[in-house]
Amino acid sequence: MSAPERIPPRSVTTAELLAEGELTVRGRIREASNAVLLCDVTYEGRKVSCVYKPVAGERPLWDFPDGTLAQREVATYEVSEATGWGLVPTTVLRDGPYGEGMCQLWIEPEPGGAELLALVDGEEPGEGWKAVGFAEIGEGRTALLVHADDERLRRLAVLDAVINNADRKGGHLLPAPEGRLYGIDHGVTFNAENKLRTLLWGWAGEKLTPEAVEVLERLRDALGGTLGVRLGELITEAELDATRARVAALLRSGRHPEPSGEWPAIPWPPV
Ligand SMILES: Nc1ncnc2c1ncn2[C@@H]1O[C@H](COP(=O)(O)OP(=O)(O)O)[C@@H](O)[C@H]1O
Ligand SMILES: [Mg+2]
Repeated sequence: MSAPERIPPRSVTTAELLAEGELTVRGRIREASNAVLLCDVTYEGRKVSCVYKPVAGERPLWDFPDGTLAQREVATYEVSEATGWGLVPTTVLRDGPYGEGMCQLWIEPEPGGAELLALVDGEEPGEGWKAVGFAEIGEGRTALLVHADDERLRRLAVLDAVINNADRKGGHLLPAPEGRLYGIDHGVTFNAENKLRTLLWGWAGEKLTPEAVEVLERLRDALGGTLGVRLGELITEAELDATRARVAALLRSGRHPEPSGEWPAIPWPPV
């Protein structure tokens, strides 16, 4: 008789852990504009920290009347996964102590990460930086707002163009270990109207990288298949159509989008 085959322990994915684990609230993040709770989640011996944003804690927004912020955050994660760039921490919809909401893996901030944003004197961004626009900094003075010429930010700029992010601030960029960079806070995305409001205008009008073109082609196909079906559960039909149209427009122009007004739409304050 041969020895019984050993069954390797089933590995739990982070998404499963976040969706199925037991959620314990540890505290509330004070500076947030909506209810953002820091939690522990435990499942089959694994424990991680996450943020839990219950739908019940969302402030209604007149220009985003449909769906919930939580659903848009999950939709953004799904698009990020389809790009293969992994720009958004794992995010799921689930029930919790304050009802349905989104749960997102907590990213421990990396101290001393590279500077991503700066205000500089003069008209030129300088080596390694991209210009965003001029900003009033008080007492009648202006400074040039710049962001790093960083390929991770450039990918995020493409993701934001696809999801139509209306709020990409500096504080929503989280440098993490192993050279990773995550974007967070994607509640105001996927509007059917153009609402791109971001700091990452540095590549506006420039040609997309070949890598970005490849990713957008993949997204176009995915939006016609399983990704489209999944997003259809999270955003409206009109928003899904607009997402497909944005991907098609990016592929047609082959360029990073440009601000529609004379001034770039920048969230203020930028951090
Ligand atoms: N996944 C995360 N990992 C680490 N910190 C986070 C995460 N999500 C949120 N935070 C922290 O919580 C703050 C508030 O979250 P945010 O998503 O910006 O909420 P709001 O929708 O209220 O603006 C963020 O500025 C950030 O400091
Ligand atoms: Mg925020």
